Amino acid sequence: MKKRIGILTGGGDCPGLNAVIRGVVKGAILRRGWEVMGIEDGFDGLLSLDKCRLLSLEDVRGILPRGGTILGSTNRGNPFLCPEEKDGTIELVDKSGLVMENLRHLQIECLVVVGGEGSLKIALELINKGVCIVGVPKTIDNDLMETDVSFGYNTALETATDALDKLHTTAESHHRVMVMEVMGRYAGWIALESGIAGGADVILIPEIPFAFDRICRAIDERRRQGRRFSIIVAAEGAFPLGGERVIKERSDTGLSFERLGGIGEYVAREIRKCLDMESRVTVLGHLQRGGSPSTFDRCLGSRFGIKALELIESGRCGQMVCLKGRDIAAVPIERAVRSLKLVDPDGSLIRCAEELGILVGR
Ligand code: F6P
Repeated sequence: MKKRIGILTGGGDCPGLNAVIRGVVKGAILRRGWEVMGIEDGFDGLLSLDKCRLLSLEDVRGILPRGGTILGSTNRGNPFLCPEEKDGTIELVDKSGLVMENLRHLQIECLVVVGGEGSLKIALELINKGVCIVGVPKTIDNDLMETDVSFGYNTALETATDALDKLHTTAESHHRVMVMEVMGRYAGWIALESGIAGGADVILIPEIPFAFDRICRAIDERRRQGRRFSIIVAAEGAFPLGGERVIKERSDTGLSFERLGGIGEYVAREIRKCLDMESRVTVLGHLQRGGSPSTFDRCLGSRFGIKALELIESGRCGQMVCLKGRDIAAVPIERAVRSLKLVDPDGSLIRCAEELGILVGR
């Protein structure tokens, strides 16, 4: 009987996921003679057998330039905490037993979990129950430990930088302060790197709570020097000194989930109050997650997919593929999810921004 592995993509989608799926399917079928079972909609797909299907070479033909994931995803599903209605109230039920049963039934020997911090934490719980899992890091936020970067981040940065270039011209024509809010959850990587690349005047990140008077003074100073427009990049997780993160939605089912957003609007409003200048907000939102992956992300995704197969081949369950310098390596999943990789306020990127004259809010 042929060896059969499974693959699922969990969490928020990001450019490059299809490159991983393609890499796994091609490497498994062409080089190893294995079968690959594609599982739809992340871990949710393991709760019902009709969401699992064998993937063929035909299924992955032409998908490299496509954003998203051909398998579908969800960033809410957790088989250990499945919301179920009982007598009018929502209870969280552990359905991991069903997942184990379905994996056995489908004869999946090892599962490739392509996901961010949340999905990899779920993977770890399944590993502790005896499931063989190999992890592939995925995030546009760049907040996963133990890998220099994951696919998706580079494309998201390109999108954000391109948007900043476009905002610059209209900001200058209309003498406005343009605030662009970007994603990143609790990390400021997208804001910081796109801000440096896009020539922002102010960059606000969660790792450095910002002081409003400093921002207003900096913009006023620019105006007095004849530069009547300014560009501010605000990470969705940024917040003022002594203040709090703006949370749009918080899960009330026990699944720890927060949807951030709204800081851009807040900053623009405060600017209008403290300076007599027009200010507008652009929330880049899910545009950062969509679109065709960059060359870098297609290549990294493909390399991660092939490395995942090598790990399975050598029986290294519980490991996550990663990028270290220019090499693809592996680390225990456990180490990757211990904490988030955040921007170092005293690190070289922040120093670079400050030496370029960018205000980072402090
Ligand atoms: O983790 C990826 C990410 O895009 C974050 O940057 C953002 O906070 C979140 O997902 C948005 O999630 P949703 O798709 O549920 O709005």
